[in-house]
Amino acid sequence: MSTTTTLATRDQQVIWHPYTQMKTAALPIPIVKGEGALLYAEDGKTYVDAVASWWVNLHGHAHPYIAQKVAEQLQTLEHVIFAGFTHPAAITLAERLIQLLPQGQSRIFYSDNGSTAVEVALKMAIQYWQNKGIARRKIIAFRNSYHGDTFGAMAVSARSAFTAPFWSYLFEVCFIDVPIPGNEDQTLKQLEAYAHEGDVAAFIYEPLVLGTAGMVMYNPEVLDQLLAICQQHDILTIADEVMTGFGRTGRTFASDYLQLQPDMVTLSKGLTGGTMALGATSCNEKIYEAFLSDDKRKTLFHGHSYTGNPVACAAGLASLDLLLLEETKQQIDHIRQRHAAFSKKFRYQPKVLEVRQRGTILAVEFEAEGTSYFNKLGDTIYSFALEQGVILRPLGNIIYVIPPYCITDPQLDQVYLTLQGMQQLITGERYFEPPTQTTLHD
Ligand SMILES: Cc1ncc(COP(=O)(O)O)c(C=O)c1O
Repeated sequence: MSTTTTLATRDQQVIWHPYTQMKTAALPIPIVKGEGALLYAEDGKTYVDAVASWWVNLHGHAHPYIAQKVAEQLQTLEHVIFAGFTHPAAITLAERLIQLLPQGQSRIFYSDNGSTAVEVALKMAIQYWQNKGIARRKIIAFRNSYHGDTFGAMAVSARSAFTAPFWSYLFEVCFIDVPIPGNEDQTLKQLEAYAHEGDVAAFIYEPLVLGTAGMVMYNPEVLDQLLAICQQHDILTIADEVMTGFGRTGRTFASDYLQLQPDMVTLSKGLTGGTMALGATSCNEKIYEAFLSDDKRKTLFHGHSYTGNPVACAAGLASLDLLLLEETKQQIDHIRQRHAAFSKKFRYQPKVLEVRQRGTILAVEFEAEGTSYFNKLGDTIYSFALEQGVILRPLGNIIYVIPPYCITDPQLDQVYLTLQGMQQLITGERYFEPPTQTTLHD
């Protein structure tokens, strides 16, 4: 029996994997090493991590600089209770995040992941109104959004197959449509209507790109209009930058494309460059001050055992060092340009409904002929990509690429060739190279 079989079968005996139907899932692929954008399987095969390991990895796997900083922290202080105590890594990371975040953010509350960062933001928003003695209960969110898997985060996420077993346990949310191009007026009207009804505590949104919904994209102008309505009606705003943060959209935060700024921001995923689990919720002084009181009941009673973990904060600091390097900025822009060149050609291929791009995020939507058929096809194209040595996880009929910023040109070529191969598999038609001097619209 090979070691690979042993690892995978040992896994099968004891592990329950996320988002996996354990009855029918293929054996997991044991990964024994990572370097740059590559993952090395135990059987010697390599994979280009074109999904940045669930959108967390920024600078490549097992980055030596992050590893060194984490090791130093581990030898100094691995953890300390974060109520009543503090430490340099948490303070410095908060100081640096506040410098980078959209203007006005002045406090950082740490937690463990994206879902908990969202829970904290929702609790801050709800309690803000209670602390002020004002009755405001409603939360507004985009209909197709995804904010995480804990109960509050599920409540503000789409009522989808993911959340169906729990619907009756989720608090009520006012959903508005995503303002994709052409839909803007409708969404603005829906928000206006809720705002006029009153009683709205907060609006939570994924800025510019809804990840799990299928990399659904909309423009900064309409988000600014939505935020303006919220400001007019004193509705608190929460930008969920868990996926979009740290350069993914081409700017440090998606909120950097906007004129107006949110009251709160949620962060995770790229916060540690993909090294450690860490979540952060930032807020402005207005929110923070509503919790200051001689009455202890106005405290934000939330915390996790590992809140502000020093090792995770050290990874965050190291990742920020790398993110702010000129060469990382150039690399982000290079990926953006390469994606743009690929989209220009790929959007005219048969059965390609749309190619969307914002910064380093690329999504291809194929024409779907019924969901069940397509779900089956999703499995086929996922396996096809793996055979090509590329990790791409389709979201239904949508395939997306979110690479680590260190991805090389030959690795990007491999990803694009795999997308072309998928298209061929779906349509049965060969990829055609559109003429370079073309009258087709950009
Ligand atoms: C926008 C957004 N918010 C929150 C989350 C939840 O993050 P986590 O998986 O770390 O709990 C995700 C995860 O994909 C996300 O995309």
